[in-house]
Amino acid sequence: MLNICLITDLHIDALGYSFNGIDPRANFVKVLKEATSKSPELIVLAGDLCNKVGDLEIYYWIKDQMDAVNIPYYCIPGNHDDASLMMEVFYKDTFVSRSELFFVKEFHGHSLIFLDTSQGNMSTEQYSWLNKIVSAIQKDVFIFMHHPPILAIAKHMEPNYAFQQMEEFQSFCAAFQDKSFRIFTGHYHFERSIAKGNITTYISPSTYLQIHPDYEEFKILHDRIGYREIKVTDQSVVTNVNYL
Ligand SMILES: [Fe+2]
Repeated sequence: MLNICLITDLHIDALGYSFNGIDPRANFVKVLKEATSKSPELIVLAGDLCNKVGDLEIYYWIKDQMDAVNIPYYCIPGNHDDASLMMEVFYKDTFVSRSELFFVKEFHGHSLIFLDTSQGNMSTEQYSWLNKIVSAIQKDVFIFMHHPPILAIAKHMEPNYAFQQMEEFQSFCAAFQDKSFRIFTGHYHFERSIAKGNITTYISPSTYLQIHPDYEEFKILHDRIGYREIKVTDQSVVTNVNYL
């Protein structure tokens, strides 16, 4: 069995920053400690590591926290991140002269795909790379990306900040009818699982604050923080969200 913990939407800001009494650095440290206690083989940070824009100091601070727990981890950029700065900090010398941070990793017999949707879309180059990777996978396709690629009824987030290529992405997946796509995302700041065609998307809550999905204006749903556990065997995928 492969046990993964997904932590997302950290929204770390300058040292000492707080919003509504929420300290995003303290929140992240708490969630990381709790996730680590489950002894996962892998931790994924699914984007929006930074609160507003990508920042080297913040990425180095997060790297320090992650290196200290001594569990393998990968991170992908969200719309508030800078993919180039993340490459510099987390993947030094791995993605020379690339503008997008996408890659695949073989982990305990599973191909885990990590995409870059930080611009709200994916380049033609990223789609054609993904096409080659998915074509070579015999089993379920596991993708980590920041933005959900199917509608999830998020009344504030979707009209303003949704992935811009939902139709294109869904057509891409539909071309692989023999495969199931299991897609793990953040971005909307609440927990929801939705399915369409051969795509199941698992949206995970933020370690910062949760956004109400039923109001068009920005409204905090609650400030409980959590992370997602994903347990993969050859026969099944079991996933659940734990709140602290
Ligand atoms: Fe976010």
